[in-house]
Amino acid sequence: MTNRKRVSPVLTSPMLTRPMLALGVVFLASSFAFGQGAAEPKPLMAEQFFKNVQVLKGIPVDEFMSTMGFFSAALGYSCENCHEGNTWDDYISDTRQKKRMARGMVAMVNTINRNFFAGRQVVTCYSCHHGGEVPRVTPDLTALYSSPSEEAPDIVKTAAGGPTAEQIFAQYTQAIGGAQKLAAITSLVAKGFAVGYGLDVDKDPVEIYAKVTGERVTIVHGAAGVSTNSYDGKVAWLAGPQIAGPNLQVPVLSLSGQELEGAKVDAEFFFPGKAKPAVAQWKVGTSTEIGDDDVQVLQGTSAGGVLATLYFNAETHLLQRSVRYTNSPVGRIPTRVDYSDYREVAGVKIPFKWTVTWLDGRQSFEMTDMQANSTIDAGKFTKPPAR
Ligand code: HEC
Ligand code: HEC
Repeated sequence: MTNRKRVSPVLTSPMLTRPMLALGVVFLASSFAFGQGAAEPKPLMAEQFFKNVQVLKGIPVDEFMSTMGFFSAALGYSCENCHEGNTWDDYISDTRQKKRMARGMVAMVNTINRNFFAGRQVVTCYSCHHGGEVPRVTPDLTALYSSPSEEAPDIVKTAAGGPTAEQIFAQYTQAIGGAQKLAAITSLVAKGFAVGYGLDVDKDPVEIYAKVTGERVTIVHGAAGVSTNSYDGKVAWLAGPQIAGPNLQVPVLSLSGQELEGAKVDAEFFFPGKAKPAVAQWKVGTSTEIGDDDVQVLQGTSAGGVLATLYFNAETHLLQRSVRYTNSPVGRIPTRVDYSDYREVAGVKIPFKWTVTWLDGRQSFEMTDMQANSTIDAGKFTKPPAR
């Protein structure tokens, strides 16, 4: 069983592989040592925390772990291809040649981008590897004469002549029930199930609480215990049961930097009508397709620097997909949400199903009940003390 294929069955956050949680335990302990307690703990840098960091310096611990996810996805690897096993000692060790090779590749990529592309991050591990270990040298004749692969570009080209972003949002607002009904919703309480992929196909009961002011918490009742993923308007954190390995209890893991900004954008995209203000200036891209559906494309960057793309169904005008990207030293890290099964809640159409896809996993959510404007205890979003 590999870490990459077997993603945590209960946590909803991307990038939370089991080893990351294992490290989260120690991370927490040391963030206390670094004087946590102020409202916003200072992010702990990779080189302060990890034992053998030679090239990926100057980034927070959670971004370092996202980078590991990027390596794995770009090469079609599991963590074990570069690390002997999944104990911390295995991660520290340099015994695997592939790990040493990866360091050299980071330096190579940085040199290429600096010398040929004015430092823009346009060449990444994925540019050459494309999900495989050894990049191809010769154009493949079979691939050349079959239909082109459907990889959507991450940076959207501005299209002229079509509807403006303002018009696309207006159509969406109209389609979900109109500005007045939308404005009347100040909170949502949803209940349903979370379903994992691959080996983790358990249907776990889930509760979600969200407020128009930005707070959101997802609580999954998994077989191993309760997992929480929360953004309280300022701080994002995750808490989970014993899924990190034997004898490892994971109390609370705070997110920082781009991971925190990503959690904020996730909460904004979840609440109907909040996607528009999440980004100051949306640009309209060329319309494209998702499966058989024509979609209109909007892209922009949040105040916190998170690049995001929205896909609206051209016929129903409902939001069909959102993708948000966080930065890492080796490339952009995508998290995608596909929305479906829109149903009315207090006169506003809200998706009852969505699937979250990230570099090392996928999880689906199916709501059975959603209530607008019930009172939510503020404590629901509060970060619990580390036990
Ligand atoms: C393509 C090879 C590659 C893959 C795949 C990979 N890593 Fe790494 N990993 C590295 C390299 C290289 C370093 C050292 C980075 C440096 O020196 O700056 C590292 C360092 C680490 C460290 C820091 C250990 C320490 O204390 O010094 C951890 C933890 C880690 N990796 C976890 C993972 C996990 C978890 C995965 C799977 C999600 C993974 N890695 C996948 C190459 C890889
Ligand atoms: C400019 C193209 C290019 C880019 C960009 C690139 N690589 Fe490579 N990489 C190669 C080639 C070519 C090989 C095979 C070398 C050989 O066959 O000797 C390779 C081999 C490797 C291997 C060894 C695979 C094996 O066979 O054991 C690792 C690990 C690796 N790359 C990691 C990375 C990582 C991590 C990144 C991003 C930081 C990256 N590469 C970016 C071209 C690239």
